[in-house]
Amino acid sequence: MRRPLVATAVAMALTVPLLAAPPALADRYDPGSTSGGDPYFPAAGNGGYDVSHYDLGLSYDPATGRLDGTAVISLTATADLDSFSLDLRRLTATSVLVDGKRATFEQLPPDGSGLGGELVVRTRPKLKAGSTHTVTVVYGGVPGRPVDSGGELYGFVSTPDGALVASEPEGAATWFPVNDVPTDKATYDFRITVPEGKTAIANGEPVGTPTTTGGRTTFVWRASDPMASYLATASIGDYTTTTSTGPHGLPIIDFVERDLTAAARAQTLASLALQPRMITFFEGIYGPYPFTSYGSIVDDDGVGYALETQTRPVYSRTASETTVAHELAHQWVGNSVTLEQWRDIWLNEGFATYSQWLWTESRGGATVQQRFDTVYRTAATSTLWSVPPGDPGAADLFARSTYDRGAAALQALRVEIGDPAFFAVLRAWTTENADGNVTTADFVALSERISGQQLDAFFQAWIYAPVKPTSW
Ligand code: ARG
Ligand code: ZN
Repeated sequence: MRRPLVATAVAMALTVPLLAAPPALADRYDPGSTSGGDPYFPAAGNGGYDVSHYDLGLSYDPATGRLDGTAVISLTATADLDSFSLDLRRLTATSVLVDGKRATFEQLPPDGSGLGGELVVRTRPKLKAGSTHTVTVVYGGVPGRPVDSGGELYGFVSTPDGALVASEPEGAATWFPVNDVPTDKATYDFRITVPEGKTAIANGEPVGTPTTTGGRTTFVWRASDPMASYLATASIGDYTTTTSTGPHGLPIIDFVERDLTAAARAQTLASLALQPRMITFFEGIYGPYPFTSYGSIVDDDGVGYALETQTRPVYSRTASETTVAHELAHQWVGNSVTLEQWRDIWLNEGFATYSQWLWTESRGGATVQQRFDTVYRTAATSTLWSVPPGDPGAADLFARSTYDRGAAALQALRVEIGDPAFFAVLRAWTTENADGNVTTADFVALSERISGQQLDAFFQAWIYAPVKPTSW
């Protein structure tokens, strides 16, 4: 599924859209790339600009599955541009304004795999490198139930009573026009209109109280910390809302679907009740909680997994204690400190899994070393070892290797450099890179700096080699 995607997207990136005849030299066409340059997902993201803010006005009808939106995107050109593109998949744009003026645009169809999809906007006059602009896109359509390159539901997933929105890695384009790469972090405002009685939940905090007119209610949310597009959510359903307070007065707002089974509800509420203590625990490891609020969304319909959507993770059907610890830890490792390229996924999943192990140990459960021993006992023939966590391939982004081998690598590092250096590395990682983007090379460099040890062979064995590490 992933090979044809690469080939088509590269071909797409080389295509100059919109022009029937080649331009005269004096009128040279100066397009921003339709690729963000990630080798795993070349169709995602774009070149030539940097987004600072998305203002998303959304209206959703669960009965028909139709989503209508107006996206107001604030961006800065990073090159002289007479066209640029946004990722937008299977939704139809009906008008595009650049700085309030009507612009010509074209939608390139998704490639054969169903992924991809570009909204190419032509700008006259050219956008000058360094100048800032407002792009308004009116669009709509039926997102349906999109599937990612690993075959799992993701993006804007319609459910019988609403929608569950979980867009990792590049599914944000299924619900808004976006520069869908983790390096282009932005702030977000959401205004989501749904039938009266439904609740719409996004990242950050509610602004004002919901307003109802003509049987439709509008919920306003603001996410004021920089956020990668895959971490945005706008989940809709029949939820009960609980507000509580975490450490330092941090607002915690939880949403639990009304129709959860009794067993799922009991487990979920017990897990969510631990969130304040978990925040304090992870602050002890990673430093202050990085965002302005927290809370969870637990939906009775599912995508089959949970996602660490920023400030407000989503859970499918139930939220176990270990999963709640995992998604909370991602707020530091993944959300504040974000991978630069998807091949470095272990920087998200290995770290969140390790954090979850630390939490379990602190509760008197299995020790982290016991968890390491269990993983290390896995037979050498397992895909745990043939898939390297530092370059698993797009289809294996969420394979066991990136979680368990990634976490085991951290425990091996801890034994290698000792507790004081190891925990100093973890804390420096999250405090020095807060709100930033990182690579595995950055982590190797930091570990070597703090430990004073040469660790190339160690990381080669644990992160890059497609075989079980036996010496390091
Ligand atoms: N990052 C999520 C977690 O570990 C998993 C996301 C899985 N995404 C997917 N498209 N299958 O909690
Ligand atoms: Zn995770």
